[in-house]
Amino acid sequence: MNQDEMKKAVAKAAIDYIKPGMTVGVGTGSTANYFIDELAGIKGQIETTVASSEASAVRLKGHGIPVEELNMVSVIDVYVDGADESNKYLHLMKGGGGALTREKIVAAVSKQFVCIADESKLVDIMGEFPLPIEVIPMARSYVARELVKLGGQPAYREGFITDNGNVILDVHGLQIMNPVELEQTLNNIAGIVTNGLFAMRPADVLLLGTPGGVKTIT
Ligand code: 5RP
Repeated sequence: MNQDEMKKAVAKAAIDYIKPGMTVGVGTGSTANYFIDELAGIKGQIETTVASSEASAVRLKGHGIPVEELNMVSVIDVYVDGADESNKYLHLMKGGGGALTREKIVAAVSKQFVCIADESKLVDIMGEFPLPIEVIPMARSYVARELVKLGGQPAYREGFITDNGNVILDVHGLQIMNPVELEQTLNNIAGIVTNGLFAMRPADVLLLGTPGGVKTIT
């Protein structure tokens, strides 16, 4: 199986977590897109979905899958999304697609978070993938200086504006030994809206695509 086939396999496996009448949180990215395509096959059975990005909402609606605003639902039963990195504790790094803020909100609301990823995403120590940080535009330079103090090398994601009207700094050169601590530290920097560490609210299940099939890690 190549990487794309592994992504498709985990997207298909995630359908087992969707039960009739559920409200489903839907992530963003190429793996989440495959999940949306699979979800189309059972769209008559679910209550509705909440999308973590405008792009995913468009894809869902394109399949005729209902999409609801988060403020209109009281609970999300299960959230299915990809990741840029995961460690064995299911702490994740997300935001490669720039949707990290809405993704973190949807994850916070969801009863169960099922992460779907190909095996290249499982790492011992997070940080090889540059850590995405969503920043209020006027705070960009200040936040960048603070990130340098933490040992990172922030790079401005040129030409990219998030669904919330903010910018992204991608932080290179971090070796994230304690993801929970770094997530909290970053949360305390004025001007940062969201950082891409999902460690305080990790995934509950990781469906990992391997050449031999889908592995379930809990
Ligand atoms: C988007 C994300 C994605 O889940 C992450 O970038 C993984 O994407 P892909 O499934 O395309 O590898 O966090 O903000």
